[in-house]
This record gives sequence, structure tokens and C-alpha cells, in this order.
Amino acid sequence: MRFGALVLASVATIAAAAPTNNVFNNVYDYNSNLEEFYCKVSSYIEQFAGDVASATCDMSNVALPAAASVLPSPTGTLKYVAIGRGTQNYTCADSTEDTVPVQIGAVANLYDASCIAANFSDLLDLLTEIVIDFALPNSSVQTPLAPANIDLLGHHYFSNSTTPTFNLNTTPEKQYGIAMASKKDAIDAPYGSIVGQNNEGYGATTWLYLTTIAGTVGDYKEVYRVNTAGGNAPTNCSGQASTIEIQYSAQYYFYV
Ligand SMILES: *[C@@H]1O[C@H](CO)[C@@H](O)[C@H](O)[C@H]1NC(C)=O
Ligand SMILES: *[C@@H]1O[C@H](CO)[C@@H](O)[C@H](O)[C@H]1NC(C)=O
Ligand SMILES: *[C@@H]1O[C@H](CO)[C@@H](O)[C@H](O)[C@H]1NC(C)=O
Ligand SMILES: *[C@@H]1O[C@H](CO)[C@@H](O)[C@H](O)[C@H]1NC(C)=O
Ligand SMILES: *[C@@H]1O[C@H](CO)[C@@H](O)[C@H](O)[C@H]1NC(C)=O
Repeated sequence: MRFGALVLASVATIAAAAPTNNVFNNVYDYNSNLEEFYCKVSSYIEQFAGDVASATCDMSNVALPAAASVLPSPTGTLKYVAIGRGTQNYTCADSTEDTVPVQIGAVANLYDASCIAANFSDLLDLLTEIVIDFALPNSSVQTPLAPANIDLLGHHYFSNSTTPTFNLNTTPEKQYGIAMASKKDAIDAPYGSIVGQNNEGYGATTWLYLTTIAGTVGDYKEVYRVNTAGGNAPTNCSGQASTIEIQYSAQYYFYV
């Protein structure tokens, strides 16, 4: 999306004062994170008022967060930064304390935060932490991600148990390719990461380094998952159902 759209959408939201319940789904309390978000947006509006139409999305200065430096460095050129919002899915063979949840995949909507990353990295990080507290987006609609009105870029799911897939073909006009990937490296999320909705849960899922495999459509080389919030399963299956869906948000960096 373009900066202008972000500003206008946000101004509209501020003007409407209290965002509606169907957006928040009764999950989000207006808290300090959201207040900080609106304060930053307001200051950007003041700073760039009148010049928003000329804002571009030059990704050349966008870098992975510093804590990702222990993962292999990207060899490609950064093409997109997306905010992912969905669930990490697990199964439990039984509901006892002796059984450990096993990951079976993830399902998430990906939203194009490239322009926000290019110019407002503080806003990007704040948004990633905020959106886990908003209602889980419906995967079959094009609705932008609240509260910043970020456009849908694609869908993340597993093609099979070992193949995380990022399908960036959403409409006949938006055919941005399909990255099929393989996990090459992982690190724990940094201490202090958001552990779940309302910062309650089982922890932030790992940061990942993925490389693409045969079947990829487009020039995608590498995908990183960083700045994760939530997504971790409980340490054991005590009292759990046979399938568990754990809410998460994260940033995905796509290199070509
Ligand atoms: C994972 O959870 C999502 C809900 O986020 C659900 O739609 C999907 O079917 C689940 N996928 C698997 C493989 O369990
Ligand atoms: C956006 O970032 C680019 C570099 O990526 C910079 O040249 C430009 O001045 C920035 N624009 C705004 C509005 O911050
Ligand atoms: C998601 O959107 C589709 C298409 O609009 C609709 O049929 C479905 O009921 C929605 N699902 C949820 C959980 O809202
Ligand atoms: C999963 O899909 C990948 C890519 O198509 C393939 O190489 C791999 O053998 C598949 N693995 C399983 C367990 O089916
Ligand atoms: C099993 O999980 C429950 C709930 O998450 C937790 O309270 C308990 O301490 C765990 N037990 C062990 C042995 O880790």
C-alpha cells in the first residue's frame, strides 16, 4: 500500500474515535500500544503533510532486525516485507502431560507492509505487535489489515508437512508468484517478545531462515520470519484438544 492510503485510513479511524467492535472482536482493549501507534501516525502526518503522494517504497535501506544477524545473511534483494497474521497449528496424540504438541503447519494472511518498512520501521514493529490483538482475519476475503489498512499480499500455508508456502497470487491483477520453501535455520525469539494475544500465552515462535525449493513461481530465493508474536504451543498436551491453533503475528521478508 502507499503511505497516503495509510494516513487517510488512519485519519479516518481517528476521526471515527472508537473503532468498531467487529474489528476488535472484543479482543482489543484500547491500550498503550494502540495509543503509541496513533501518536506516531499523527506525527508522521504532521511531518509529511502535503508530500504523501510522492512517497515511494524504496526497499534499498530496509534491513532485517539486528537480532536476525545470527541467521545466514540474505543473498538476494529485498522485494517485500509482509505482516503475517494467522495461527500456528499443532496436534496432540492424547491429552496427557507426557505428550508434546507436534507442529502440523501454519495458516496466515500476509499483508504488504513494504512501504511502511521503507520509511517507518518503528511503525512496522509496533503494528506487528498490535495486530495479534485484533480479530483473526478471514483467509477468503481481501479485506485490508486493521488498524493501518494494509493490503492483502498473499496467503501462507503448508503444502505438505515440510513445505511452508507463500502464495502471493491473490486476484487476477495481483499475481506476484508463489514461494515454496524449506526451513534451513531457526533461532529463539528474543527475550521480551510478545507471548500471545494480550501478551498472554506460550511464547513467541522462532525466527526462521527459509530457502526456496522447486515449485517456486517467480524469483524468490529466501524468506525470513522475524519479530514474531505468539504462535508457540503449550509445552505438553495436558487438557488439550487433538488439534491446537495458536494465534500469532510476524514479519516475513521476501528476497529475490
Ligand atoms: C490450521 O488452523 C487454521 C485456522 O487458522 C485452519 O483454517 C486450518 O485448517 C488449520 N490447518 C491445519 C493443517 O490444521
Ligand atoms: C523514505 O525512505 C527513502 C529511503 O528508503 C528516503 O529516501 C525518503 O526520503 C523517505 N521518505 C519519507 C517520506 O520518509
Ligand atoms: C470468510 O469469508 C467467506 C467469504 O466471504 C465466508 O463465506 C465465511 O463465512 C467467512 N468465514 C468466517 C469465519 O467469517
Ligand atoms: C513435500 O513437498 C516437497 C516439494 O514439493 C517435496 O520435495 C517433498 O518430498 C514433500 N514431502 C513429503 C513428505 O511429501
Ligand atoms: C504441562 O502443561 C501445563 C499447562 O500448560 C503446565 O501447567 C504444566 O506445568 C506442564 N507440565 C510439565 C511437566 O511441564
